[in-house]
Amino acid sequence: MFLCISINPAIDKRLRMAHLRPGAINRATEAMPAPGGKAVHVAMALQALGADPLWIGFAGGSNGRDLVAGLAELGISTQAISTEQPTRVNLAILDDSGTVTEILEPGGAPSPAELDLFRKACEESFARGKADATVILSGSLPPGVPDEFYAELIRSARKQGCRIFLDTSGKALRLALEQRPDFVKPNREEAEWLTGRVIQDIPSAREALRQILSLGARSAALSLGKDGLLWCPGENQRVYYARPPAIEARSAVGSGDVTVAGFAQAMASKLPPEQIVRRAAACGTANCLVESPGQIRLSDVQEIEKSVAVEMLP
Ligand SMILES: Nc1ncnc2c1ncn2[C@@H]1O[C@H](COP(=O)(O)OP(=O)(O)OP(=O)(O)O)[C@@H](O)[C@H]1O
Ligand SMILES: [Mg+2]
Repeated sequence: MFLCISINPAIDKRLRMAHLRPGAINRATEAMPAPGGKAVHVAMALQALGADPLWIGFAGGSNGRDLVAGLAELGISTQAISTEQPTRVNLAILDDSGTVTEILEPGGAPSPAELDLFRKACEESFARGKADATVILSGSLPPGVPDEFYAELIRSARKQGCRIFLDTSGKALRLALEQRPDFVKPNREEAEWLTGRVIQDIPSAREALRQILSLGARSAALSLGKDGLLWCPGENQRVYYARPPAIEARSAVGSGDVTVAGFAQAMASKLPPEQIVRRAAACGTANCLVESPGQIRLSDVQEIEKSVAVEMLP
């Protein structure tokens, strides 16, 4: 049972244009909307991997209706909590040179009553899932939501015996780490912020990973874009380094989210560590090949897995 929690979902809109020019009128040649936000990408990827995730999230206004309808069309189960605030739009602009520019709206502040309903919905599903549930908390917090929000959800999921995955950044991440989530996956930038280190090679990435474990993560991966990822399954365990094959990426937006889905599915299936890290890296790479973030193809994952190089660092 996978619970994908989306406090700040979005409509992802991918725009194509020949060349993006700031300060000028830019005309897109194509606009593709899809359900979005990090937890949505995770849910889509889990579904592609054969799982049956439940998406729990806020939905507001006509964008919120489109979001929920889009998820239903994909066959993803949803539990939407209504908010007065319209669901935001996240823009990804792809130009002919291969440059991807992201413009992310902050999202609107939910009311205290809406936030209470959201917490309640999460707590009810934690109680239903108990030790069978993997709870995946993904994305930024919208304005007005306290930085402790994820830390509190982790406490209540833990009481029910759920396994907790977390993918967020900044203060929300730092506070949540104190509650000892089972797994976190910062990217390079997030890990640099968290640890105050510059990550410029594998040894420095490894040091940062060690520090993230000491901040509270029970297991952690650090993703490095096209350079792959490092993963430590737990305290005092060896670190794995997985390198995906070079590919021609359309856009890597959402690759980290899909990587988290790969880890969640592979760990829940109790695959051996070497296969877990291979699957996770391949999932992120598979996301670089698709039209819309999160909508990976299982056949791509299986093909890429064959050429992911995995080593154990000394
Ligand atoms: N250009 C690329 N080529 C091959 N694989 C990639 C590329 N970019 C990302 N990946 C794969 O996806 C994984 C996650 O990517 P990345 O580190 O960019 O995540 P992220 O910054 O958290 O992304 P997001 O938050 O947008 O989902 C990498 O570890 C790698 O396996
Ligand atoms: Mg990320």
